[in-house]
Amino acid sequence: MPLDRLVMQGLRNLAALDIRPSPGINLILGANGSGKTSLLEGIHILGLGRSFRTHRLKHAIAYEADSLTLHGRVAGDPPIPLGVRRDRQAQELEMSLAGERIARTASLAEVLPLQLINPDTFRLLEGTPKARREFLDWGVFHVKHGFFDVWKRVRQALKHRNALLRHGRMDLRSLDIWDRELTHWSERLDRLREDYFETFIPVFEETLSELLDDPGLELRYSRGWDKERPLVEILQQGRAGDRQMGFTQQGPQRADLRIRLHRRPAVEILSRGQQKLVVSALKLAQGRLLERTTGRTCLYLIDDLPAELDNQHRKRFCRWLERMNCQVFVTSVEPQALGGIWQLETPVMMFHVKQGQIEAGSAHHGAGTSAMTSDMTNSNTE
Ligand SMILES: Nc1ncnc2c1ncn2[C@@H]1O[C@H](COP(=O)(O)OP(=O)(O)OP(=O)(O)O)[C@@H](O)[C@H]1O
Ligand SMILES: [Mg+2]
Repeated sequence: MPLDRLVMQGLRNLAALDIRPSPGINLILGANGSGKTSLLEGIHILGLGRSFRTHRLKHAIAYEADSLTLHGRVAGDPPIPLGVRRDRQAQELEMSLAGERIARTASLAEVLPLQLINPDTFRLLEGTPKARREFLDWGVFHVKHGFFDVWKRVRQALKHRNALLRHGRMDLRSLDIWDRELTHWSERLDRLREDYFETFIPVFEETLSELLDDPGLELRYSRGWDKERPLVEILQQGRAGDRQMGFTQQGPQRADLRIRLHRRPAVEILSRGQQKLVVSALKLAQGRLLERTTGRTCLYLIDDLPAELDNQHRKRFCRWLERMNCQVFVTSVEPQALGGIWQLETPVMMFHVKQGQIEAGSAHHGAGTSAMTSDMTNSNTE
């Protein structure tokens, strides 16, 4: 589902832009502070209604501007326009899809499945379970029908149960009701996650094996509560402890992916470059599985692809991107690092960012460094 047009206004240091990206590889090149990450951030906000750099979208509005407006068009027949707008004074983000106002960011995410690979992606290995749960749920959301409703039911049941736990006197009858409700939806959520995980594993292993010589990595799903006991029993017997803590200690809200090597957390053993390849393999495998199960492709935002990787591993990474046939936006400070790396048939478009101004090169195939540089003069901005 590539974007065939992107319009941005009032985003960080970027001058107003209107570009027609390639459905394949888009290289975003420029010096430090030129605005490359901001461009990726804009696409991310468009697809998810939130930034990956700040929780306060207001901070992404250019200093001099009153609002931030982003538009995109998802290629197809018919093409689907989508847009978001955030006013400096307003509390809410305005969103539109196919000409209609929408209220849920999930509607944007449905039409524009998006994966980000940036320094934060390392959190999949080194961070808390939350990052890995979100990663897993991205896949389940896009691949398994009904996930979103089940997930919302779990969240609602948890909220009610936690509120009861914190209440002065325990209302045991209500607690019984919410324990059963929480168990019912949690078991469904667990099945969806587990099913997804089973199909994900072989795709991940295949992806990783081509990026990295087999490190013998082990990936496991843990559902968030004791394997041997039914959740309802855990909830009922754990009430006193949960009450003391003020929240429900076991359940799908504690699910995790265990990523291990030689029986130890992989993050303690892998080098930084190897870590980058592992987290990238996780993200690439999700895109491949999405295509395999739904026929839809996802869009990749890859900030500073060359960083931490040697030439051989950059090549392997780029080869996967080409084979996946999806739209990719890759940034780099060094044009040479990604020059001459693409195969002849791959459509590559180059965008050069200079102090917030974007110059676009026309699409061509299998760019070598010299071909890319000479194309820079052909602007396709409108
Ligand atoms: N709200 C804002 N309004 C205007 N400019 C901003 C705003 N927020 C950040 N900037 C500036 O935008 C510029 C572009 O930042 P960005 O992170 O996109 O650069 P970059 O090209 O990714 O750089 P690097 O190669 O160092 O990662 C920075 O100079 C930053 O100071
Ligand atoms: Mg950057």
